Amino acid sequence: MIDLGYRTGLFEAAAAGPTTSQVLAERAGLQERYVREWLGSIVANGIMAYDPDTREYMLPPEHAASLTGAGSANMAPTAGMVVIYGKHLAELEHAFRAGGGVPYSRFGREWAEKMDQVSRRPVDELLVDRWLPLVAGLSERFTAGARVADIGCGSGHAVAVMGAAFPASTFVGYDLSEDAIERGRAEVREAGLSNVTFEVADVAELKPDQPFDAVFAFDAIHDQAKPAAVLLAAHDALVPGGTFFMMDLALSSNLEDNIGNPQARWTYSSSTLYCMTVSLAEGGAGLGGAWGWQTAKRMLAEAGFGEVVTHRPAPGSERNMICVTHRPS
Ligand SMILES: C[S@@+](CC[C@H](N)C(=O)[O-])C[C@H]1O[C@@H](n2cnc3c(N)ncnc32)[C@H](O)[C@@H]1O
Repeated sequence: MIDLGYRTGLFEAAAAGPTTSQVLAERAGLQERYVREWLGSIVANGIMAYDPDTREYMLPPEHAASLTGAGSANMAPTAGMVVIYGKHLAELEHAFRAGGGVPYSRFGREWAEKMDQVSRRPVDELLVDRWLPLVAGLSERFTAGARVADIGCGSGHAVAVMGAAFPASTFVGYDLSEDAIERGRAEVREAGLSNVTFEVADVAELKPDQPFDAVFAFDAIHDQAKPAAVLLAAHDALVPGGTFFMMDLALSSNLEDNIGNPQARWTYSSSTLYCMTVSLAEGGAGLGGAWGWQTAKRMLAEAGFGEVVTHRPAPGSERNMICVTHRPS
């Protein structure tokens, strides 16, 4: 229902003010009978309010804040992931019984597109202005010229954005998914960026010809088949003193700490349906999306990194935990 609201523009139309199903349907250019049934679900789920006297439906501003707009606070695009995950339930049920999982390749182009739609909003809004300044001197190094990698880059929007912001630096995005890399290549071609390249590669085997000054991993460690090998490869791919910047999902490694955190409801579910199963499909570690701060810090230490500085979720990116560490000099 949230995905339908996002696709049809119903949340945006509802945010314009309380109204009847008829007027809401007119505002959104939709069929009233469908809109009324959708409203029934949305009201019953506590997302909108209904006044039986006036027959008006109301989207509270505090709910509209998470369901409307072009910014990263709008969580509505994320709901469409469930629709994609749902197509693989029979295979997942089989994995519950027999082990293994549903591999990355089954989620294909459709998932790469959805991931892109979800992650480009925070990248556009926060990467250059909010996330990079968390590391003292990093933006200055990129301005002067640095070699930078993004491992598990998906469709590569982060390297495209950094490539445009820092023309003296070179950026390489690595991902297993040909669909995602194809999207990344198209974006940098269209933007005319000659300092951004992509490679279809397994980052557990990453061995660059020349080391990087910085390596990024956005949302890309917890679903790895071999997360420990990937962290080690990231460490070894850096120059001494080089920066590893990892953004992942902001949760504790302990279920009891996560109870009551709305992000946990989504993360454990999405992990069962995607993040964990893609890893288990390859006989992998199956860390899951809720691997959390504690496990992340332990694994970074085991990979040989130095002190890890963690950043608490900031307004606009509450779902993210950021860990910054360096290869010891
Ligand atoms: C959750 S997505 C995040 C993508 C991107 N960083 C973003 O924020 O939109 C994780 C990505 O890691 C990639 N991936 C997983 N295992 C990989 C591996 N061993 N080598 C390269 N890429 C991998 C997947 O194909 C997927 O695109």
